[in-house]
Amino acid sequence: MRKPIIAGNWKLNKTIAESRELSAQLAKSLKEIDDREIIIAPVYTALATVADVIKSSPIQLAAQNCYPEKDGAFTGEVSPEFLQDAGCQYIIIGHSERRQLLNETDHFINQKLFRVLETGLKPILCIGETLQERENNRMLDVLTTQIKGGLANLTAKQMATVVIAYEPVWAIGTGKTASAEQAEDVHSFIRGLLQELFDSKVATQTRILYGGSVKPNNVDELMSQKNIDGALVGGASLNAEDFVRLVQFEN
Ligand code: 13P
Repeated sequence: MRKPIIAGNWKLNKTIAESRELSAQLAKSLKEIDDREIIIAPVYTALATVADVIKSSPIQLAAQNCYPEKDGAFTGEVSPEFLQDAGCQYIIIGHSERRQLLNETDHFINQKLFRVLETGLKPILCIGETLQERENNRMLDVLTTQIKGGLANLTAKQMATVVIAYEPVWAIGTGKTASAEQAEDVHSFIRGLLQELFDSKVATQTRILYGGSVKPNNVDELMSQKNIDGALVGGASLNAEDFVRLVQFEN
């Protein structure tokens, strides 16, 4: 019932030429896939080029961030409208790198989420605890605050296109994956929270992705967990062969 999503977050990697090449390889290898959603998120400068390369493939385009205004005097920022114009269907918001490096707050992330929905695009809301928070038994509180803050004032109806990505900060780019059981426990907790905050329909329909060192050798086990509906992938999404294998996960 929940269509799986494999999403590649390219972060600050790949020039326009490199993005064109990687997306062309993916479009060629993944053209028959229709039982799972495939998303790639290149840097802003490569979005329009990649949109053109993947336009007749099942691959969808995401931006890695946005600014919660439509247009105007916001030097250096890019709004959901302009990302839609560049060909995006999804926008990643609240990635832990932005929370940590740019001090993004749950309130700011919530404003972005509303604007993404208003534009008719689909948000991928990232949440996740640091190692210290996990070790101090604060993980569930932190995740609850991020979910409540990020999804504040949303109706159950507005939740229909929201995707959540659980990315434990200690597992990002470190080669340390949460074990399938650890990830499943948290995903099940998040689903319970959605039930509490919204209703059982939202809880059963919302896709919750796992992110943090997802690789070809662990994707099948992660994807076989009941509450894991997909993966948000950094490092392994930069290599065509690896990303194709991730999309072809077996569960
Ligand atoms: P890695 O897959 O490189 O750990 O990155 C995960 C991530 O941050 C995706 O958004």
